[in-house]
Amino acid sequence: MRNYAKKFQPFMTIMRLLQETNALLTGAVMNRLIELENRYCARNYHPLPVVLRSGKGIWLQDVDGKRYLDMMSAYSAVSFGHSHPTLVAALTEQAQQLAVTSRAYHTDQLGPFLQLLCEMTGQPRALPMNTGAEAVETALKAARKWGHKVKGIADNSAEIIVCNGNFAGRTTTIVGFSSEQQYRDGFGPFAPGFVSVPFGDAAALEAAISPRTAAFLVEPIQGEAGIIVPPAGYLAQCREICTRRNVLLICDEVQTGLGRTGRLLACDHEAVRPDGLILGKALGGGLLPLSAFLAREDVMQVFNPGDHGSTFGGNPLAAAVGSAALQLLRDDRLAERAETMGRRLIGGLRAIDHPAIREVRGKGLLIGLELDPAAISARTFCEHLMHRGILSKDTHATVVRFAPPLIITEHEIDAALVIIGAAFDSLPTPHGSDADRIAA
Ligand SMILES: Cc1ncc(COP(=O)(O)O)c(C=O)c1O
Repeated sequence: MRNYAKKFQPFMTIMRLLQETNALLTGAVMNRLIELENRYCARNYHPLPVVLRSGKGIWLQDVDGKRYLDMMSAYSAVSFGHSHPTLVAALTEQAQQLAVTSRAYHTDQLGPFLQLLCEMTGQPRALPMNTGAEAVETALKAARKWGHKVKGIADNSAEIIVCNGNFAGRTTTIVGFSSEQQYRDGFGPFAPGFVSVPFGDAAALEAAISPRTAAFLVEPIQGEAGIIVPPAGYLAQCREICTRRNVLLICDEVQTGLGRTGRLLACDHEAVRPDGLILGKALGGGLLPLSAFLAREDVMQVFNPGDHGSTFGGNPLAAAVGSAALQLLRDDRLAERAETMGRRLIGGLRAIDHPAIREVRGKGLLIGLELDPAAISARTFCEHLMHRGILSKDTHATVVRFAPPLIITEHEIDAALVIIGAAFDSLPTPHGSDADRIAA
């Protein structure tokens, strides 16, 4: 045995050296790519230090070949998992056929896509855009024009009520009504005409309505604010108030829509049909940007040719992918899946009994884990998870977001829970160990 070991010793040493050199080289590639991004990209994000190269289903792979379970889904845009074969087929087939025409012409893709979108969401008309922020801007323009031309509010004086903690994108109008100081700092002057009320407080909405109010814009669950779920019945109360006061209820479901919370729309949990609905993110199948503003007839009819548009909005490539994404959502019953898997994930997270955890909240597969900042920051915890093979993202310093693709299986959720539990186990307890407490 000793002879055997002796004989192979030089070979083993070479193998080890090769492995170490390889690790250094691949680590060097990763660092070089991060440096390149840091050198040439605006510093408007603070990514986790991982460089991704490929994705399949719920799995991502970095340039070193290390695999990660994607528990973030590109802020809920990758609900179908990465490179879903059906969606990639729809994308590539359409790309070879016709990709972009502008809306100067009709295409064979847009009508069927919008028909499916309207039929599934129960809205009569849709206006296709690209990003979520553009669809929100579309909603704001529609609401103001409806206020002035249909409701009869004096010109240029329509108001829109929003909620504290809202997040609707990054255009100047949108950050102008954000309650987050950083999002606004230095970007003014801002558009007037927005009034902010506490989220989850229907009485505050009612009190804020004036004869100038055109619309109430609300996320059914606030995502960027830290996965804030309002009290049960809130949305239904808002619906009743808006109907009674002739104010448009516009739900921003860019993040909560398309199955994410366990229903096709988060509004469906309270059987609420909004007057305007904003969708984005997952609508593009995790492959390209596609968003839409949907609304009732008298709201959408305020738009005349030339009032609004976008070169890429409603392009046949996006429409083909959007159609395939909606069909997949319906045929694979992904909303139901999100509800079942979400219950399992929330239950599993709540069962992790660690003093650093303040709260686990959410609906379906849109889940926030609030940490005690005295124990650990959400960013540091996300880095711990990354090293253990789970990618997530912090929001607001104390909340870790868990929003995996809706295709995630029970087995994968259980595996994720084991890793998350182990990450907590590796933390020092913030208020001393059990042994300390017993000794005290
Ligand atoms: C509720 C909500 N609305 C709008 C947006 C803006 O979408 P986008 O980043 O595609 O502009 C977001 C993005 O996170 C969002 O969460």
